Amino acid sequence: MSILTQAVQIEQHGGPEVLKMVEVSVPEPSANEITIRQHAVGLNFIDIYYRTGLYKSPLPHGLGFEGAGEVIAVGKDVTRFQVGDRVAYGQSPIGAYAYVRNLPAAQAVKLPQGISYEDAAAMMLKGLTVQYLFRQTYRLKEGETILFHAAAGGVGLIACQWARALGVRLIGTASSQKKMDLALEHGASEMINYTTEDVPARLLELTDGQKVPVVYDSVGKSTWEMSLDCLQPRGLMVSFGNASGAVEGVNLGTLAAKGSLYVTRPVLGAYTNTPEKLQAAADELFELVLAGKIRLRIDQRYRLEEAALAQETLAGRQTTGASVFSLI
Ligand SMILES: NC(=O)c1ccc[n+]([C@@H]2O[C@H](COP(=O)([O-])OP(=O)(O)OC[C@H]3O[C@@H](n4cnc5c(N)ncnc54)[C@H](OP(=O)(O)O)[C@@H]3O)[C@@H](O)[C@H]2O)c1
Repeated sequence: MSILTQAVQIEQHGGPEVLKMVEVSVPEPSANEITIRQHAVGLNFIDIYYRTGLYKSPLPHGLGFEGAGEVIAVGKDVTRFQVGDRVAYGQSPIGAYAYVRNLPAAQAVKLPQGISYEDAAAMMLKGLTVQYLFRQTYRLKEGETILFHAAAGGVGLIACQWARALGVRLIGTASSQKKMDLALEHGASEMINYTTEDVPARLLELTDGQKVPVVYDSVGKSTWEMSLDCLQPRGLMVSFGNASGAVEGVNLGTLAAKGSLYVTRPVLGAYTNTPEKLQAAADELFELVLAGKIRLRIDQRYRLEEAALAQETLAGRQTTGASVFSLI
């Protein structure tokens, strides 16, 4: 039997006003799907890219990739989950902004008892991203120094704590003193205000002229050049987002001139594309959370009906830590 529920959808690309609450019918789960009654849904910058049309999916469509809740139905071939299980996910077909939804079972993990639905919705996409960035894209070693942009954001505050847990010196950037203080409290070793300071010059000072072997840059257009200037010869530029706009027209000669640099443009989906890889990454994240080494910082809570306000606030650089829709 299908279930009638409310979900946020867009019919066209545009500003926050295109986000509309609509009634949708969720069909019975297909053979490999589960149906989830969601308790909390995560808000991520990628949701804004889909709303504006920077990233595209056929219209009309829902929004969101991250959530947590209770399994209320399972498809006939699903063996890993049962009705009543607490589950979470950070990478799904688009459409997490909904009270009830179907999801491929391969994209969900069971949620340990010690982790709340809200915390799960604040960390599955963001925390799994930090897992692959720090443990797979470039496997950080104790004692290393890194540059991490937007360190007071949702991904950023998890990165600060994960770096501290690894014994890594994270030099972060942010746009205000309040954000810099917050990142320092969460484990950043030093902070640079990238709206007022010369980042490469300050980084050179902080590292006694050494620079860093890896830069994690999710800001994109406005930080691309400065990030390359912070890398050691043969360093790795990890460009994993576009909060200020997409990086375009890259001149490969620049990578040669700045020291035989490497560049990667990774996405979470490529690192969690099997249930085994997803589970292994989630296990590492859950272990750090259960040990108290990573505490989720949820500074903005909304109702699903407030999706426009939530996205406007995130796009306007007014948030710190994670933003979550609390549904129950
Ligand atoms: N590739 C992947 O697998 C992957 C996965 C997850 C997230 N991401 C990316 O990681 C980034 C962080 O995601 P999040 O959801 O945690 O967001 P967030 O960091 O909480 O918010 C974005 C932050 O970016 C900074 N920023 C700099 N220039 C900006 C501008 N022109 N407009 C808006 N913000 C600007 C702001 O911090 P300041 O005010 O301090 O500058 C802002 O708070 C996003 O770019 C996202 O797309 C990528």
